Amino acid sequence: MNKELKTIFSAVQPSGFLTLGNYLGAIKNWIGFQENFKCIFSLADLHTITVLQNPKELKSRTKELYALFLSCGIDPKKSIFFIQSQVHTHAELSWILSCFTSFGELSRMTQFKDKSQKHANNINAGLFGYPTLMAADILLYNTDIVPVGADQKQHIEITRDIAKRFNGIYGEVFKIPEEFIPKIGARIMSLQEPEKKMSKSDANPSSYIALLDSPETIIKKFKKAVTDSENEVKFTGEQTGINNLINIYSSVTGKTTAQIETEFEGVGYGKFKMSVAQAVIEHLKPIQEKFSYYISNEDYIKACYEEAKEQALIISERTLKKVKEKIGFVS
Ligand code: TYM
Repeated sequence: MNKELKTIFSAVQPSGFLTLGNYLGAIKNWIGFQENFKCIFSLADLHTITVLQNPKELKSRTKELYALFLSCGIDPKKSIFFIQSQVHTHAELSWILSCFTSFGELSRMTQFKDKSQKHANNINAGLFGYPTLMAADILLYNTDIVPVGADQKQHIEITRDIAKRFNGIYGEVFKIPEEFIPKIGARIMSLQEPEKKMSKSDANPSSYIALLDSPETIIKKFKKAVTDSENEVKFTGEQTGINNLINIYSSVTGKTTAQIETEFEGVGYGKFKMSVAQAVIEHLKPIQEKFSYYISNEDYIKACYEEAKEQALIISERTLKKVKEKIGFVS
C-alpha cells in the first residue's frame, strides 16, 4: 500500500548571517529529509521584525539567505521553500491562536526572557506572542515533524499545547507535531563563550562561523576559540570549548567522539583546532561555490519563491478555512 508521506516543516529567521550552528543544528538535517518526506521550509521574516530591522538590509538579506539555502541543498523541486511574509495565512492564524494561549505560558518562554533582556528598550507584543506565530507556521501544514536545534524545543512544546487545547474545544482540527532534534549538532556553542549558544545576532563575529566566511577567517576564528588549559582532546559532555569543537568536528566529518579521541590522542589543542577548521572549510566549500552561482541568478531565485508561495497558500488556506468554520466566522 502506498502510505502518504509525512510532512516536515521548519524555518529560519533571516536575522543575520547563517551560522554553523543554524546549519549543523537544523539545515543540514533538512536536506536529508527531502528524499522521504513532504518538506516545507520557510524564511521566517515576520518573526525577524520582533527586533527592529533596516528595511533595505532585511530585503537583501532575505534574498541572500534564500540563495544560500538553495546552495546548502534545499531543492525547490522536492520542497516548498517560501518566504513567510508572502503567505498571509500565518499572521492570520497566529492572531487566532493567540486567543487560545495564556499570558502565563508565554511568560515562561526562555527565548522571550533572553530576548527581552537583550532588547530591553524594545520589548514589544510581537516578541511576547512570537510562539503563537511559530505555532501557526507549523500547524497550517498538518506537520508531523519539526527538525530544529535544541533551543527551539520549548516552542514546539507550546505549539503542541495550543493545538491540543484548540482540538479539545473544536474537535480534531490540528495534527499534533513532534520535534526532531539531532543527536550531534543540536547545540553548537559560541567559540568565545562556550556556555552560550552560537548566535547570528552575537555582536562579536569571532564567536560564530558564518557559512560564507572565507577559509582564512575560519582558520582565524578557530585558532582564537576559547578552550581550557587541559590540552587533551577528550569528550566529557559538558559545555566546554573543547567539547564544542569535538561536536563540530563530529558533525561535519561524521566521525564518532570515540574515533575523534583516538585520532587526536596525544595531540594538543592547537593542532586539533586546525583540523576542525580544515574540516569545516572543506564542508562549506561546495556550499560557497554554489552560492556564487545562485546569488547572481536573481530571476531564478524569484521564480522559486513565487512558486513556493502559491504552493504554501494552497495548503495553508485549506487549514485556515477549516479553523474559521470551526470557530464560527461567517464565510
Ligand atoms: P533561528 O532562526 O534562531 O534558528 C534557525 C534554526 O537553527 C537552530 N540553531 C541552532 N542549532 C544548533 N546550535 C546553535 N547554536 C543554533 N542556533 C540556532 C535553531 O534551533 C533553529 O532550528 N523561531 C525559529 C524560527 C522559526 C521556526 C518556525 C522553526 C519560525 N517558525 C517553525 C521551526 C518551526 C528561530 O528563531 O530559529
